[in-house]
Amino acid sequence: MYILPVHITLNKKSIMRKLTLLAGIITAIVCFTQSCKHEPPPFVPTPPNPGNPNPGNGLVCFETDILPLFQSNCAKSSCHDAANHEKDYIFDNYQNIISKGIVPGSAANSEVYEVLFETGNDKMPPPPNPDLTAAQKALIGRWINEGAQNTSNCGTICDTANFKYSTAISVITSTYCIGCHGGTAPSAGINLTTYAGVAAAAQSGRLYNAVTHTAGYSPMPKNAAKLNDCQIAQIRKWIEDGTPNN
Ligand code: HEC
Repeated sequence: MYILPVHITLNKKSIMRKLTLLAGIITAIVCFTQSCKHEPPPFVPTPPNPGNPNPGNGLVCFETDILPLFQSNCAKSSCHDAANHEKDYIFDNYQNIISKGIVPGSAANSEVYEVLFETGNDKMPPPPNPDLTAAQKALIGRWINEGAQNTSNCGTICDTANFKYSTAISVITSTYCIGCHGGTAPSAGINLTTYAGVAAAAQSGRLYNAVTHTAGYSPMPKNAAKLNDCQIAQIRKWIEDGTPNN
């Protein structure tokens, strides 16, 4: 009856000592980790990825989003096509595109990406060709940062029920056409960077005949794969609708 309380007192003391020690260790760990804490990397917003809404993969789609940009802006005749390969760059297919000036995983170290932002003589594409849009540059940067992969068959969603100028037609022309049909000297005198220019080409019948590879017309997009059936259906429906600026 007398010994028991002493025993409890001793136990309390040793528990208190252990708790004090534990608190000390926790404080030391917290201080250490706090002092070693790095600044978080700056937030880089992710641009939208129109060509590949494929869940579970989510990568930029090379086949539909990147290849047409290189083909229409860079692989033009007298520039970086197979025949001219200016400065040994050829931008006509995946193997050639990644063979020089692209460091998979690092847009910042990729010459091909950097020149898009240059000014003066180093700028690409050079005048009279149009600049890539900010969104197109961002998409190329993101594709390189994701490893510059040959993503194809990405399950790209193309909806033939959408044939508005703003969300379907101008998306096709800015990805596949304006590298040649833009700037200060557009190919064939056909400027596809504005609604008025696209509507005029459509109303003349030349646009639809060119993209459907109708005999007697130059097949478009030049030196690249034919647009897919869905894209051609969108163009056809928009023309049948009277080429509205919607
Ligand atoms: C790589 C450059 C290039 C790209 C990309 C390109 N074009 Fe052309 N386009 C030309 C050239 C050059 C001509 C003049 C004819 C020729 O040389 O084949 C032309 C001619 C045309 C013509 C007139 C055809 C005719 O026979 O009357 C139309 C219409 C046209 N392009 C529409 C388009 C559309 C629409 C796209 C995108 C889907 C496109 N082009 C993509 C270079 C290009």
